[in-house]
Parts: sequence; C-alpha cells; structure tokens
Amino acid sequence: MSKKRKITLTAALPYANGEIHIGHLVEYLQADFWTRFQKLRGHECLYFCADDTHGTPIMMRARQEGITPEELIERNHKQHVLDFTDFGVDFDNYFTTHSDINREFCSVLYEHIEKNGHADIRSINQTYCNHDNIFLPDRFVKGTCPNCKANNQYGDSCDSCGSTYAPSELIDPACSICGNTPTTKESEHIFFKLNDFKEYLTNWLPTHTPKETANKLMEWFDEDLKDWDISRDAPYFGFEIPGHPGKFFYVWLDAPVGYMASAKDWCDKNNRTFEEIWNADDRELYHFIGKDIVRFHCLFWPSILDNAGFKTPDQVFVHGFLTVNGEKMSKSKGTFINARTYLNHLDPLYLRFYYACKLNSSSDDIDLNFDDFIARVNSDLVGKITNLASRGAQMLNKHLEGRIGDLDEDGKALVDNARAKSEEIAAHYEARDFSKALVIIRDIADEANRYFDEKEPWKAIKADPESARPILSATLNLFRLIAIYLKPILPEYAEKTETLFNESAFNWQSAQTVITNHQIEKYEYLASRIDPKQVDKIIEETKHELAADKKIKTQPQQ
Ligand code: 2FM
Ligand code: ZN
Repeated sequence: MSKKRKITLTAALPYANGEIHIGHLVEYLQADFWTRFQKLRGHECLYFCADDTHGTPIMMRARQEGITPEELIERNHKQHVLDFTDFGVDFDNYFTTHSDINREFCSVLYEHIEKNGHADIRSINQTYCNHDNIFLPDRFVKGTCPNCKANNQYGDSCDSCGSTYAPSELIDPACSICGNTPTTKESEHIFFKLNDFKEYLTNWLPTHTPKETANKLMEWFDEDLKDWDISRDAPYFGFEIPGHPGKFFYVWLDAPVGYMASAKDWCDKNNRTFEEIWNADDRELYHFIGKDIVRFHCLFWPSILDNAGFKTPDQVFVHGFLTVNGEKMSKSKGTFINARTYLNHLDPLYLRFYYACKLNSSSDDIDLNFDDFIARVNSDLVGKITNLASRGAQMLNKHLEGRIGDLDEDGKALVDNARAKSEEIAAHYEARDFSKALVIIRDIADEANRYFDEKEPWKAIKADPESARPILSATLNLFRLIAIYLKPILPEYAEKTETLFNESAFNWQSAQTVITNHQIEKYEYLASRIDPKQVDKIIEETKHELAADKKIKTQPQQ
C-alpha cells in the first residue's frame, strides 16, 4: 500500500440555533464515509467540525426563549453531538466557535489584515430598529417585494419572484422582532479589501476548487471584487474586534476560523501541534461544503489565511442540496426532516446506505425519493446483501457446525474476482464517487446471489450436507468482502460482520484474505426491511413539529 498520508478535513459548521436535518446529513455523512475510508486504508485522517454559534439570529432566539445565548448554544451543542453520534458521524473533534481558541485565531488573522493594509474603515447607513435598539440584518426586515408586490418577504430577496434588493427598497418594511417600521442609521464598519487578493485568487481558484465553482466565481473577476463588511455593531453575540470597542466580528468571519479552533483543541487534547495538523507541507487539508457557501470558503477564506501565513485548503469539495421526492425540503409537506425525527423511526444505516447510492463528486443536487429509498434498501441492502449472510450463516450453523471449509471452483473464481475489485472500489471512494463504489459492490452481491441460487445449497444440505459446505463457504466469503467494502458507509454493520466471522477489526487489506477452515459465530440481526409505514410516521411527526414551531418562532433561523 502507498505511503501513509496525513489528512485534515472539515465539514461546514452547523448553526447553533437550528436542529440537524437530513439535508445537513448529506455533507456530514459523505465526509464521514471519506474519512472512514482513509482510516481503513491506514492513513491518518482527522475530521473536524464545530457549532457555528455567533450572530444576530442566535442572540435573538435566546432572547425569545428567555435564556442567554451561552445557554442556548450549550443546549444545542449537546443535541447536535447526540444526533451526529447516533448517525455514526465520527468527528475527531466537535468543537464550538464560542471559545478562547477561536477568539485567539480570529485576533491573529485580523491583526494581519490590518497590518498588511487590507482593512478599510468607513461609515455606512443600515436598517435600524429604534424600538429594539439594534441594527437589523436583511433577514430581520420583512415587507412587500418591490418587484412582484408579494407580501411578507425578507429584506434581501423575494421567495415569490426571486428578485434581490436592499431592505430599504421593501415596500412597508417592518422589523421582524417587534413589527415597527425600521429607520436607517449610520455607523462605522470595517471592510476586508478582497480586491487586494484578486490576482492571488485568479491563480488559486482553478487549482483548488471544482471547475464549476471556479468558473462561477471567476465571473465576478471582470470587475473589481467588492469589499467585504466584516464588522457588526453591538449588541451582537460574537467576538469584539481587537482595538475596536463596540465592534464585533461578523459571524461569517469567525465561523471558518472554527475549523482551525477545532483542530487546535484536538491538538491540545492529543499532545499534537497545530503546525503539524494544519500547516505542515505534507498535510492535506480539505473542506467539504455546500454550493451555497462557496463565496465564503473560496474567496474570503483562502485570502485571509494566506495573508496571515497559514496553510490554505488543498481542495474545497462542493456538493449540491438535498431534494425530497424531487422538491425542495418543505416543513408543510413533512419533508424537512430533522435527524432526530428520522432516528425516532428508522435505523440510520438505511439513510447512510441510500445517500451513498446517490452521492458523487459533483455539486448536483441529490434526491431522496421515499419510494426509491425503501426499494433500494429492501431490495439491495436487505434482499441482495444481508440475505447472503443470514441464509448462508444460518444454514452453516444449523447443519455444518458453523465451520467454513474450502471453496468450490466456481465460488473461488467469484471470490477472487471480488477481491480483485478492491482497488477499483477504493479509487471511487477516494474520488468521493460513492455511488460508483456501490455499483461494483452491488454487482458482487448480484453474482453471489446468482451463484447461490444456481447451486441450491438448501437442497444439497438435505441430501448430503457436506456437499453444501463449499457453496456456503464461498457465499459467506463473498458476503464478508461486501461488508469490508461497505465498512466506510456502514461501520456498525461491518463490525457485526467481524463478530459473525470471529475476526478482529476489518481494514481495507482484509479484503485480500480468503477465509477457509474457520469457525463462525451465531448469526445476529444485521438489517431488516423498511416498512413504508415507518416513513409515513416520520412525515407525520415532521408536520406536527411545524405546528409546534409556529407557536414559538416568528424570526428567521439565520
Ligand atoms: O451555512 C451555514 O450553515 C454556516 N453555519 C456554515 C459555516 S461553515 C464555516 F465557515 F464555518
Ligand atoms: Zn424592532
């Protein structure tokens, strides 16, 4: 195997005022599959994340609930950790942006911005609520769309006609906290002069981001790049900007810094250095993000890092959104499903499997179609794959003392063929083309089923039990290989398979072994078919949550 790689990767930090939902999981799971794959290959791969805790919506949400922002973020941190753990998302560290480590990194990055002359301070006019004494982010102003005249639209864009505008352009604007008409007020802001990095980014983008991302962002490069407003006025839940009392870092400035903070926190706890885990030349650094946040990760972030002499990401991997039954996730249709609601009714294994079947390295949206979800899980994971183990192992245990013997010629050829697929499957995992890896794995399962059905061991076992041993041995070896290849996606399933086969933890190399003359254990449950009623229950419960939500929430999540 190739030399040991050293990899650090991150997934985007979820906001601390919202729940983890199945849309988020598209990202956390694909990065988890990838991390687990790298670990199985023997590489050092560290997966970092954290809660994104600052900003006006979090502050207002806490106020609304009558608790402090600190209490709010602590409560949600616990819930997020539970949700991720229960979905098998195995972060090496799950931290928080509301931490001294993060504050420290933000200060360092900002000092370099100022020192190198990339900060510009000037006054601007912004929407302000005299009643709440707060500057209102665009999403906190509601009114009538100046373009199509639809009511109840946010201050930045219209959901109805899609046009974008400034909050001051809204007809009959109202503060979404108190309902009063906002005014405008002048205040000083600090801007990051992105245009100073235009040349740097022109070189950086094509080699560190997907082609479609680079092309899209480069469309703005015909003109000067716009300054980025990185400060917010008090009251604001965040970090005060060093040397600028009453001014706070905009949440999007300190959020990606949370990647570094999470890495550093892990280093402190594991006796390693940040230099080694982030900056070292032989370290690979990757960010997994959704296509809605490329501007932050592919323009501002590398510029700010490079300016302060930190390593910039080797690649930013960009994925698409999740649609459900072909449409945008919707609370009222019951398809905006929280991770916890799903877990109340279904095993996470199914969603992990289904997402893997759908995911590739492009930023196209992926669709969770419930009928297809049920069909794929029931026919492929249960019907084709799990049945190999349950039928094979139970027959072997019942009639042949659970002892795997030699394989017959046909079976051996199939096993050799499946073993030979190891590197091809690995290449697809490496390229984050999980769906392609799954196609090959399913092909192996199809071959195994064909073999099993042709050889009819259930007949042989009655007439001459010993004649069935080679067939069951080959079938179980094929199943074992499938479980190894699926281990990045279905780690628990693979662990149960290790127990079934009386083996220590599988790694990628384990697929090179053929098991003969080997005692297996009793077959324990691996997976069963999804009952469509369970999916119906998830949808129903999600609809109920909407009704409950409406009672407490009037303001935007972010
Ligand atoms: O879009 C979001 O949900 C943000 N909370 C992502 C932050 S990613 C990183 F920059 F922290
Ligand atoms: Zn107000």
